[in-house]
Amino acid sequence: MGVSIIGCGSATPTQVMTNDNLSHLVETSDEWIRTRTGIQKRHLATTDSSLSELCTQAAQEAIAMARLAPGDIDLIILATSTADDLFGSAAKVQHLLEANNAVAFDLTAACSGFVFGLITASQFIRTGVYETVLVIGADILSRWVDWSDRTTCVLFGDGAGAVVCQGITDHDNLLGFAMYSDGQQHDALNIGYHGIEKQLKDGLTINQGTYKPITMKGRDVYRFAVEKVPEVIEKALFKAQLTTDDIDWLILHQANQRIIDAVAKRLKIPSHKVITNLDEYGNTSAASIPLALDEAVRQGKIKSGDVVATSGFGAGLSWGAAIFRWGI
Ligand code: ACO
Repeated sequence: MGVSIIGCGSATPTQVMTNDNLSHLVETSDEWIRTRTGIQKRHLATTDSSLSELCTQAAQEAIAMARLAPGDIDLIILATSTADDLFGSAAKVQHLLEANNAVAFDLTAACSGFVFGLITASQFIRTGVYETVLVIGADILSRWVDWSDRTTCVLFGDGAGAVVCQGITDHDNLLGFAMYSDGQQHDALNIGYHGIEKQLKDGLTINQGTYKPITMKGRDVYRFAVEKVPEVIEKALFKAQLTTDDIDWLILHQANQRIIDAVAKRLKIPSHKVITNLDEYGNTSAASIPLALDEAVRQGKIKSGDVVATSGFGAGLSWGAAIFRWGI
């Protein structure tokens, strides 16, 4: 059984924070943020919205584009690091969608989450276990940003994106993939747990707390991305028996325009093939790839049969790439 990606959708909050707005919050400027990152705005979840609702909106669009009904979905994989509930939000999304025949679970791999989710979905399809799988990438990192830390708060935004994958018998549109982790660098990017000791009885003490805001070794993450992303795309291309010339579109995790430019340059992919929208949304973590894909498909840039190379990278550290042909 092969895999086809037949529908996409996205959702972003209506509330927008510009670089100028940020310069009233921390010591920064539109000029610094734009030239170092390419970001001009970010959309931030309103106080009455939830991750599950953003996911549901994105998923409904993807299911509609695939000309399916929620009841046709067999499996929902929600890639997120910011679930509404630490036990996971995928089952709530299944309920909101009324995807009553689907099993649903969360997958946590930070900004690699969508690519890891897509590859996981394809394993269930290829083995014939499930036929129709919804993969959602979504994050509300604004919940976990320290809004007084100018080194991180300028980077992130909120959003959700989704794709519908379906089994096909005569070919496979997931052409190649590769995934990696390097836990040695686990402290490069974190939303770490922090608790305090609480004695429940003599000789029995537990630790209870919450998560600290995002911390990041920005330069280390930058160096890691520029080195590992071209490598992993080349590995995925090799498995697909393709070269960079066969790529119609490059969609990287939207972390920083300078990272995207450096990777495209190293791979010798011309800028007109590179899809970016981080000027509008910032780094939306697991949502960034399906969000950019959805915009490009709806703008008519990506057409059925086009070869898309995509790569996610981030906390873990983790990174991965998937090369796929869009459509049936
Ligand atoms: N406004 C103004 N000045 C700032 C700001 C800001 N927002 N942030 C940092 N600075 C200052 C620093 O304090 C420093 O000042 P100093 O020289 O007086 O000490 C100076 O600017 C340079 O700081 P650097 O950190 O060296 O700046 P750099 O050019 O490396 O850019 C950046 C920082 C944009 C964070 C870059 O390192 C980067 O993009 N790294 C990758 C980050 C990334 O992609 N993270 C997401 C991964 S995905 C995931 O899993 C969530």
